[in-house]
Amino acid sequence: MGYRVVVAGATGNVGREMLNILAEREFPVDEIVALASRKSLGSECSFGDRTLKTKDLDTFDFTGWDIALFAVGSEATAIYAPRAAKAGCVVIDNSSLYRYDPDVPLVVPEVNPEAVLGYSKKNIIANPNCSTAQMVVALKPLHDRATIKRVVVSTYQSVSGAGKEGMDELWDQTKGMYVPGQERAPKKFTKQIAFNVIPHIDKFLDSGETKEEWKMVAETKKILDTRIKVTATCVRVPVFVGHSEAINIEFENFLDEDEARDILREAPGVMVIDKREDGGYVTPVECVGDYATFISRIRQDSTIDNGINLWCVSDNLRKGAALNAVQIAETLGNRVLKKG
Ligand SMILES: NC(=O)c1ccc[n+]([C@@H]2O[C@H](COP(=O)([O-])OP(=O)(O)OC[C@H]3O[C@@H](n4cnc5c(N)ncnc54)[C@H](OP(=O)(O)O)[C@@H]3O)[C@@H](O)[C@H]2O)c1
Repeated sequence: MGYRVVVAGATGNVGREMLNILAEREFPVDEIVALASRKSLGSECSFGDRTLKTKDLDTFDFTGWDIALFAVGSEATAIYAPRAAKAGCVVIDNSSLYRYDPDVPLVVPEVNPEAVLGYSKKNIIANPNCSTAQMVVALKPLHDRATIKRVVVSTYQSVSGAGKEGMDELWDQTKGMYVPGQERAPKKFTKQIAFNVIPHIDKFLDSGETKEEWKMVAETKKILDTRIKVTATCVRVPVFVGHSEAINIEFENFLDEDEARDILREAPGVMVIDKREDGGYVTPVECVGDYATFISRIRQDSTIDNGINLWCVSDNLRKGAALNAVQIAETLGNRVLKKG
């Protein structure tokens, strides 16, 4: 016996990947429904070799459904997630709405799988921000060995992190550079994204940091360890899929770069590609469609006593969103719901 599964936001970047990953990983599904806004009513989504016709989230009755994977943005989540949860359906949400709620677990299954048990307070589990998810997968095994004090991270985030509209803007702007009359002014992003980089993701806070940067700090503390200090600079780059991060880590205890490499090779969800030669590292185009968080360029930071630098790349639509959500569903299934 399997689960009755809802995918809300099925026409979006993350929703599409959630359907793909549920099928790829043979999640035990008895029945599945794809939901989106009314304007997408009847549009088709793939689920393995099946085609699902999209239904309207607004009129959907969640009664009798087990798990709802949400990827509809915070505004729609605020309306529909409580409705699903009240009907007894466990919501696994990709938006930022519930991530910092003390009554909602924020889970990366390689890092804090036991936290799913806290789902029952609100019947909701939150999925982290895409940049946080891949970073904590890399940090966790190193923290277990040498205790992380401080992390300095710079991100290189792809446009798919800003949804379908972000991808369209990069595509259209790139074409517009070459085709007279097809120039496209910035709309989704604050400046031209084609052939450019933008040091601004999400809104500015009074502190001068952006909300995206704040999320990496707050979420790392909630998922991994409240004592870890994090400072982030988040940058949008003209890459379609795949987020990259340059991470500098300071530990309580000395950790040799070779031991760090060995630890990461054994870590769940991590793939180490680290040859000190031309091309001996992973770039975002190579991570697309993969489950792993790729780690390269592992090296000692000789400017401090206990420091390591590394390069971390992952498919933001997968580990950064859809894969992590499905892994949470699997963890919930194995530990709590126990069907399938
Ligand atoms: N992209 C990433 O890397 C990433 C990573 C982590 C978390 N997230 C989060 O995941 C969520 C979805 O992101 P995305 O990139 O998939 O966005 P997207 O490509 O823009 O897709 C948005 C989806 O939400 C649906 N939707 C929006 N408003 C709705 C409403 N009022 N009622 C019903 N459906 C509605 C859309 O349906 P229509 O097609 O019918 O409009 C579409 O299916 C966001 O909260 C985002 O922050 C994204």
